[in-house]
Amino acid sequence: MKLRLSAVRRVAVRTGAAALTAVVAADASASGDTDTFCAPAAARTLKIGTAVHAGALTSESGYQDRVRYGFGSVTPENAMKWALVEPRRNTYDWTSADAVVDFATAHNESVRGHTLVWGKSLPGWLTDGVAQGTIGDAQLKAILQSHITTLMKRYAGRVGVWDVVNEALAEDGTVDTGNFWYRHLGEAYIADAFTWAHAADPAAKLYLNDFDTEPVNSKSDGLYTLVKKLRAAGVPIDGVGFQTHVTTDNTLHTLRANLRRFADLGLDVAITELDVRMPLPPTDALLTTQADIYATATEACLAVSRCVSLTVWGFSDAYSWVPAALPGWGAADLLDQGLRPKPAYAAVHAALDDCGFTTTTTAAARHSAR
Ligand code: G3I
Repeated sequence: MKLRLSAVRRVAVRTGAAALTAVVAADASASGDTDTFCAPAAARTLKIGTAVHAGALTSESGYQDRVRYGFGSVTPENAMKWALVEPRRNTYDWTSADAVVDFATAHNESVRGHTLVWGKSLPGWLTDGVAQGTIGDAQLKAILQSHITTLMKRYAGRVGVWDVVNEALAEDGTVDTGNFWYRHLGEAYIADAFTWAHAADPAAKLYLNDFDTEPVNSKSDGLYTLVKKLRAAGVPIDGVGFQTHVTTDNTLHTLRANLRRFADLGLDVAITELDVRMPLPPTDALLTTQADIYATATEACLAVSRCVSLTVWGFSDAYSWVPAALPGWGAADLLDQGLRPKPAYAAVHAALDDCGFTTTTTAAARHSAR
């Protein structure tokens, strides 16, 4: 079986979801949320994307086909991180980042650029230079502006959306004072990054991206306050990304209401890194729970008209970051290690189908012709 998530890569048409509307009406009366299950979608664009490994993308034709025929948007999982693109000071290595963007350009895929300002995956020359005092704070600020400008200008017109600032908040919703950038540049680094990004590519959509902000909780409350403050100060922020790395213990039942409150600020919202990990080994019960959570995330995005994209953080357990980073956990993706679809795969499709998203886009047509 091949992936067919390209079904919603462009404009989709709502054709009715009467049965499911009833289900959501019951939910809505409890929450006070007046959303329907499927947000009005007369001219809605909802991109379904995946994170990609530059290495697999350039060397495995099966991987390429799955991305090409399965998704309308790609996010380089690591290829644009600072440690990879500038491993030595002023010496850029564009090999992997270019490979992803060239692939996307060749196959009419959108790209979410990931990520310009993050306290992790920084090159040693930068962190060591700061630690040793050879890079002072004023110089660091100039280096950051140059980094943002260099990446965005290189890909202007080809990368339409950027995670400008990644993971700026602490779990309690305050700005993370332990973050490398905060420690050296203070909270102003966030606003500065967006201002510099807008100057580098005024057409790009600029996102603040974070994790554990999917539910209505203290961290998402803090994010909401921060975003409101940035908007009020005229900072050019276009959207908020909700990573959505969750476990099978997580229900995501407040995700929809949370997306809506950010959308109501006049921002786009996106699910940017969805995966649902489980304690290993997988069981039928865990796979069913996982499918429910994937469906809930998809439905939440579908219900909010400003939810512009849903990206999974890789499509197969064969390439997942989870087992190495979180031993004992895994099986987080839509396909298993053998690239067989799991119940979650069907659940995502069912949610999309229920909102009348068509399967007649270019990529889907190409898929059918194969
Ligand atoms: O490429 C080197 C390889 O040469 C080396 O031998 C090996 C030894 O550790 O490391 C390899 O690099 C690893 C890289 O992934 C590529 O596989 C890094 O150690 C490892 O830290 C890195 O992990 C990535 C992580 O971000 C840190 O950048 C994950 O693949 C990636 O999925 C993860 O993605 C993050 C998002 O960017 C932000 N949100 C959370 C998400 C999950 O942690």
